[in-house]
Amino acid sequence: MLQLNTNGAEFIKRHIGPSAQDTEKMLASIGVKSVDELIEKTVPSIIRSKKPMQIPEGLSEFEMLQSLKKIGDKNIVATNFIGQGYYGTITPTVILRNIFENPGWYTQYTPYQAEIAQGRLESLLNFQTMVCDLTGMPIANASLLDEATAAAEAMAMIFNHVNKTDTVTQPKFFVDSAIFPQTKDVLVTRATPIHIQIEEGNYTTAKIDDSYFGAILQYPNNTGSIEDYTAFIDQVHQAGGLVILVADIMSLTLLKSPGELNADVAVGNTQRFGVPMGFGGPHAAYFATKDEFKRGMPGRLIGVSIDAQGNRALRMALQTREQHIKREKATSNICTAQALLANMAVMYTIYHGPVGLKKIAEKIHGLAQNLEAQLASIGIAQSNKFYFDTLHFSGFDIAALQKEALAADINFRYFNDGKNDNSISITIDETISAREIEKVVGLFEKITGKKASSKTAGAPSIPASLVRTSTYLQHPVFNTHHSETQMMRFIKQLENKDLSLNTSMISLGSCTMKLNAATEMIPVSWPAFSSMHPFAPSSQTLGYQEIAKELSAYLCETTGFTACSLQPNSGAQGEYAGLLTIRAYHEHHKQAHRNIVLIPISAHGTNPASAVMAGFKVIVVACDAAGNIDMKDLLEKATLHKDNLGGLMVTYPSTHGVFEETIIDICASIHELGGLVYMDGANMNAQVGLTSPGNIGADVCHLNLHKTFAIPHGGGGPGMGPICVNDKLAPFLPGHVYNKNKIGAVSAAPMGSASILLISYAYIKMLGAKGLELATAYAILNANYMKSRLEKKYTILYAGKNGTCAHEFIIDLRPFKATAGIEAEDVAKRLIDYGFHAPTMSFPVAGTIMIEPTESEDKAELDRFCDALISIHDEITAIEKGVSDKVDNPLKNAPHTQKVICANEWTHAYTRQEAAFPLYYVQQNKFWPTVARVNNTHGDRNLVCTCEPVASYA
Ligand SMILES: Cc1ncc(COP(=O)(O)O)c(C=O)c1O
Repeated sequence: MLQLNTNGAEFIKRHIGPSAQDTEKMLASIGVKSVDELIEKTVPSIIRSKKPMQIPEGLSEFEMLQSLKKIGDKNIVATNFIGQGYYGTITPTVILRNIFENPGWYTQYTPYQAEIAQGRLESLLNFQTMVCDLTGMPIANASLLDEATAAAEAMAMIFNHVNKTDTVTQPKFFVDSAIFPQTKDVLVTRATPIHIQIEEGNYTTAKIDDSYFGAILQYPNNTGSIEDYTAFIDQVHQAGGLVILVADIMSLTLLKSPGELNADVAVGNTQRFGVPMGFGGPHAAYFATKDEFKRGMPGRLIGVSIDAQGNRALRMALQTREQHIKREKATSNICTAQALLANMAVMYTIYHGPVGLKKIAEKIHGLAQNLEAQLASIGIAQSNKFYFDTLHFSGFDIAALQKEALAADINFRYFNDGKNDNSISITIDETISAREIEKVVGLFEKITGKKASSKTAGAPSIPASLVRTSTYLQHPVFNTHHSETQMMRFIKQLENKDLSLNTSMISLGSCTMKLNAATEMIPVSWPAFSSMHPFAPSSQTLGYQEIAKELSAYLCETTGFTACSLQPNSGAQGEYAGLLTIRAYHEHHKQAHRNIVLIPISAHGTNPASAVMAGFKVIVVACDAAGNIDMKDLLEKATLHKDNLGGLMVTYPSTHGVFEETIIDICASIHELGGLVYMDGANMNAQVGLTSPGNIGADVCHLNLHKTFAIPHGGGGPGMGPICVNDKLAPFLPGHVYNKNKIGAVSAAPMGSASILLISYAYIKMLGAKGLELATAYAILNANYMKSRLEKKYTILYAGKNGTCAHEFIIDLRPFKATAGIEAEDVAKRLIDYGFHAPTMSFPVAGTIMIEPTESEDKAELDRFCDALISIHDEITAIEKGVSDKVDNPLKNAPHTQKVICANEWTHAYTRQEAAFPLYYVQQNKFWPTVARVNNTHGDRNLVCTCEPVASYA
């Protein structure tokens, strides 16, 4: 029985919104007697799970925290000198408390509704400005997933730019041997399916001709050496290629920028700007380039525009590049990125300012010089002539040092390729002081039996030709908020502009904006998890290993599969990784020609984009009038392409919010024809405990942990997209440079953004099998309750055969265009006046809104949202009847800002009260948008993606 009164499991009642009493009222409104009856009517019996999930009973919040503390104690937080893209950093506590641990920031959604997202848009614009300044590039995006995937995105972008036509004339890509191995690994994974030829070598001897489209180098490089790439960059340019520099962001405060070196793209990680290592993530990667490539840039770009009153307003620019529109023509599948971490990194920069930042870099560099000098005095030779923070040593007893270092909980980076490269590197970061340097020197003294002298360094360790002389971060925003009071207020000011889950429900269909409970979030900040380096020795990471093992088992249990990879950093990366497993499976079975993937027209845009990235050709399948996959079309196309059929990508329940009855037949037909089935798990919130991808007959799925498993959306990331597979595909899961498998890595770190896995782990631990199943049932109940109220006024587009919807449903707004001149956008913007974020707009059907309430919303909130939509319907009726003006009405002018409402002049045909306080509850809790409707075309025509010069404010 699906009943709320589950003894003992107190968290269930904290997580699920409706009370037992309200449940009765909601069931009555739907016209069913029990939650069980609703589920029976909604989820086809043929796919229902036959036995409960093997997941232990839920723990209380207190018990879960205690248990997680014990697991954390199994991790050893060592002093890390490993570097390799991950660095100790000091997160300013004002940022930790007011952003990282603040639901006003971490529960925001991607800023599609710009009018209620000006705070994070402003912050992301600051991030772009910071990246442009430090890299010396004119344009930067608002973050990518990690350094290695950013490098792969850059490679794909320049490949497409150089090879403009379908015939590839320049297929080769030069990869300098001295880039981080994890970056190389991800590049190879990405290059292989799209037939990019990677040529690895030493840039000093490489011969680049016109068969190369580009090259990638690292600055400073893998061992820490600063190299002057100017001549090589010229060589590549002369051959008609383009150059990517992977640059350490901190070093750029002291080094000539990639822009000044004439690189075409600069990428890297901003982790060391105040974002904890977290065993690999989440962190924001940066991507900056020249103006001529801006229309091919991956990810999200924030731009400046104006609102309906002509005031400055920010928005996501060039949205036509989103995969929703480009689909299989998209060159990148990036959707969820790392907005929250980009915000943290830029706030760190704002807090320190250019002077403070340079001081940090100089301290790091100074300590490295000091260590070099001390070790030189005992005969330990350093091989980097020029360096920033990393020293490279060889020619001594490395095994002896390693033993002493491990005993002292000190980690160095050990290079040992099993042949002749026996060396170590020592990387200094912001958290290192003279005390730690002395400890390191002590270890060397012990193994050499010599006493170091502390004479200071002699020759400069940055080459004169590469010393930075250009200025950066001159904008006032980077030179104002340096006291904690200023910083706290600046963060709050921006937070106040944004509608988050701590304001009201965010009913975005397909996005599952459920509760992100504080108890789930708290462990992410514990040093036992946040301070772990992803390449720390495995003897130090037992806690993380335990979490990974247990969480993987739970995810397999919920999906009905047998193996799991936690590596993909987003849903779309999960799609890409899952498709690579299918590709590898076919190759293994000597069926490499199976390169066709069928994708229904209703699929999310990332599906076709990921398929192309994984080397598949996309064939689109139609949907019928009821919103289901058109079986006839599917079978015809599958049969036509049976010899080359790689598989099918399907979302379940469908993006139309319906459990299709034919799903088992669909999967069986694909299997019969030699294909495999990829299930997009974005809608798992309607499946967990009731059915599963395995049950339905799929072979692989990804899980958006930032939807179903309670990781917050962070204003556009972080997310996690692990994949689960059946036995067939288990041998083909992504590997990693330190743990090779049949396919390579899809992320820089072995467990992706490991630290946020704790959130999903805690969620599952506290709900237990019963709570998880109940959460799914209540997600379906809440959606059907809203549907039962709203169908009296609006047309609901699709429903299952018993008239119910799954966990979401679509309202058709298209008819109002003819009757009242009202479009979906007008309704979305008017909802802001009622204090709500709009549901998902025009996906999967243009001119509609898709509502997904989730289980965490209570009846009162659902009612407020329904009341708002019903009241908006009345406003539309008034226009239809001619009572309201067709142009000057509250919908067309929405949203209304405080400035407009309080202006001395009011010329509209409706009252101020109708405009701003249309229902009683709004008077009790008014959320004001800070800008009026944002002008999209103006922003794209006049593309400005960095903070405007100070003069423009005057
Ligand atoms: C159905 C569907 N598939 C895939 C994705 C992509 O997931 P992500 O944004 O995590 O990359 C989404 C994201 O909203 C989605 O709704």
